[in-house]
Amino acid sequence: MIDLKNKVALVTGGGSGIGKRIAEVYSQAGASVSIADINLSNALEATERINSKGGRTIACAVDVRKEESVAKMISHTLKNFDNIDILVNSAGNGVTKSFLKTSLEDWENILAVNLKGTFLAGQAAAREMVRNNWGRIINITSIAGLIGIPGRSAYAASKGGVIALTRVMSVELGTLGITVNAIAPGPVDTNLTSRMHTKETRQAYLSGSPLTRYGTLDELAAAALFLASKDSSYITGQTLSVDGGISSSGPLFAI
Ligand SMILES: NC(=O)c1ccc[n+]([C@@H]2O[C@H](COP(=O)([O-])OP(=O)(O)OC[C@H]3O[C@@H](n4cnc5c(N)ncnc54)[C@H](O)[C@@H]3O)[C@@H](O)[C@H]2O)c1
Repeated sequence: MIDLKNKVALVTGGGSGIGKRIAEVYSQAGASVSIADINLSNALEATERINSKGGRTIACAVDVRKEESVAKMISHTLKNFDNIDILVNSAGNGVTKSFLKTSLEDWENILAVNLKGTFLAGQAAAREMVRNNWGRIINITSIAGLIGIPGRSAYAASKGGVIALTRVMSVELGTLGITVNAIAPGPVDTNLTSRMHTKETRQAYLSGSPLTRYGTLDELAAAALFLASKDSSYITGQTLSVDGGISSSGPLFAI
């Protein structure tokens, strides 16, 4: 069983969906967890649930698009827990809009949350991790960063950027004891997908997926637990697809 005792994890976007489940699973593995989200009441609710079962978590308000807000998230976490050993960048946003209809506002907001937010939180947390010469950074990207999915221009650009950033962070931070990997989820039911997935999207994912289903929060959290653990010590710079095989299949899959 994976043990995260004596580790401190910071999870952005931890108030909902994939980030929330990762925070719960990390806490069950013994970590202290700082749950950071732009939606503070969701983050507080997540901490209350976990702490009522004996976990040790705090809630943190953050807007990952803003440098000062990210700095406050880091200092609030350090004030409560002294260290940051593990960072999960799960805060994310997206829209489904054709390339021709994507506005500059959509583009800038999605790139700001998904890519700039990952940069800002990654840099600020890594500056703490180097003090202990140990760290794990896990960036939640998407299969949209790996394959061309219609309606996802801004989202895919941000997630492709996260994959590239993950590689560069890994080569620069490796000698400092920090591994940096990404997880590329396939479709999972969350608040985000309830906004982004139409009936047609759902049908296409089910018929285009070798495993013919959506993934679960637990399946995503299991990958994030492994990448946070000492068992993944020789893995860095990688993007692990947790997508039921969707990114491996081609147009002839359904034949
Ligand atoms: N659910 C899927 O099918 C799927 C697939 C691929 C990738 N992802 C990625 O997984 C991550 C988690 O998404 P989810 O599906 O759990 O969605 P979600 O909406 O349930 O969770 C996203 C969280 O990010 C928070 N957030 C949004 N903007 C923020 C900001 N500026 N600062 C801080 N927090 C902010 C939201 O409040 C929310 O709690 C995202 O990066 C998303 O792109 C999800």
